[in-house]
Amino acid sequence: MKPPILIACCLVVLLASCRTTPTNPAEEHAFAPVRAVLETNCVHCHGDNRLSTMPPINDTHALTKLVGTSWIVPGKPEVSRFFQVVIFPDTVPGAMPPSGHAISPREVGILREWIKVGAKVPAHNMTLHPKGPLPRSI
Ligand code: HEC
Repeated sequence: MKPPILIACCLVVLLASCRTTPTNPAEEHAFAPVRAVLETNCVHCHGDNRLSTMPPINDTHALTKLVGTSWIVPGKPEVSRFFQVVIFPDTVPGAMPPSGHAISPREVGILREWIKVGAKVPAHNMTLHPKGPLPRSI
């Protein structure tokens, strides 16, 4: 390979590697409790195969797009739709998860605190996987 071609190839590889955001263990650690709440209670339904009215929460980049909109208002859990739906009583249509499986007070606290301190999401993309049974009652 001629040197100019070699240099061009190196540049392409270098630029391509710059595009991927490196993982950040501290960000991942801080987000871990929120991730667990979402993976246990929400991701089963809010993945790729969802209704158009449902916000996607199947990876952290999708989640990031909700931050700063009325879905998730950093610093203000009480006006964030994302948070409101988890504290609705089951009798209110739109309570999440639907059909009688409220998330625990501890999990509500984790989401509230996360939004309150700025709804930080790791910069690199992390796929969220459903954990445990589908949260619904029949
Ligand atoms: C069993 C499936 C299921 C689970 C689990 C689930 N959702 Fe939903 N979610 C839905 C459906 C279906 C809709 C659409 C409701 C509609 O359009 O009327 C929805 C809508 C929403 C909306 C928009 C509602 C609105 O009124 O604006 C939000 C926000 C939401 N879900 C958040 C969550 C969160 C947070 C969790 C986890 C705590 C969760 N969902 C768990 C099925 C689910």
